[in-house]
Amino acid sequence: MVSCVEVTGERVLIVDDDDLILKALARVLESAGYDPRCHLSPDEALAAIEADQPVVVISDYMMPGMDGITFLEQTRARAPAAVRILCTAAEDFRVALQAVNAGEVFRIISKPWHQQELLATVHQAAEASRLRTENERLTREVQRQNGQLREINLRLEEMVRHRTQALLEGLIAALDYRDAETQWHSRRVSLYARRLAQALAIHEPDLTTIEHGALLHDIGKIGVRDRVLLKPGPLDTDEWTEMKRHPELGWALLQRVDYLRPASTIVLQHQEKWDGTGYPACIKGEEIVIGARIFHVVDTLDAMTSDRPYRKAKSFAEARTEIVRCTGTQFDPRVAEAFLTVPPEDWERIRLDVETVAVLSADLAETPPGHDELFSALHGALRN
Ligand SMILES: [Fe+2]
Repeated sequence: MVSCVEVTGERVLIVDDDDLILKALARVLESAGYDPRCHLSPDEALAAIEADQPVVVISDYMMPGMDGITFLEQTRARAPAAVRILCTAAEDFRVALQAVNAGEVFRIISKPWHQQELLATVHQAAEASRLRTENERLTREVQRQNGQLREINLRLEEMVRHRTQALLEGLIAALDYRDAETQWHSRRVSLYARRLAQALAIHEPDLTTIEHGALLHDIGKIGVRDRVLLKPGPLDTDEWTEMKRHPELGWALLQRVDYLRPASTIVLQHQEKWDGTGYPACIKGEEIVIGARIFHVVDTLDAMTSDRPYRKAKSFAEARTEIVRCTGTQFDPRVAEAFLTVPPEDWERIRLDVETVAVLSADLAETPPGHDELFSALHGALRN
């Protein structure tokens, strides 16, 4: 059985202070196809082992200067892939067995040895060494591939972020074709909502979800007919019914985009009020997601501080008074309280920044690509 194992010159380091034993062991191993490297002392063997890099080390137990267990221990760092075998006379067998049990030694060969048993043990040791080396190689390979995978994932995430930003710009632009004031309102409330969410100690990724929800809150209006959406006068009952479908239409639209799905509930609930008098589900209090409760406050802020066809814009101070007045009815008291902690200059600065972009992008209307880049740049600056 042993003779069936094919060995092609694998190195076996042997150390024994008895020259006859050394030669006898070498002969047996050579006949089995191994490449034995013989040393008469542990020191000589240690000096040679790093250059030899054997797959198996066989050491005598009783040697002058250093016993076999100490020697084998020292080979561990110098030839990590080598598997260690202790060759010992029967009277030292008990000590040697302790070394095996302590995990220092792979097997013991007793002197005098039985040739077939000796070769079987060396074959097993060489096989164990091969497996160990292969295992280490595979571990390194897996680590390398994991590193590559991480890199690919990062690149993919970056691509998704880019495309998502382009998609958001596209969606907002689509709505803007229908209703020109919408996009600046949407962009202002998205930045207001992020600022208010920060005041409520909300962190990423929720900040981005809230920002997306506020930015796209009216996206469902894409599905409302022109004669309803753009009607100058008051809407009749049927028209109102159609208009009030826009949160659900927006929600359904965002369901189709994985990356935007977290923001869809904010879109669905953006017309709900704290006291349950909103639509479409008339839910109240904390049944409404925090992003929608935040949106509701900043939407009022923006509506009041913007010009309307029938009235001029009011001041931020007046908007503040109105938000305080409606706390507990329209607005979540906790969100309204956080709103009051934000310095008024922060709201005014966001409004001014978006206005600047609106003016600049009107100038750039002839070259539309500049418009989105401009807003992306501003958007990035405001987020930092
Ligand atoms: Fe709306």
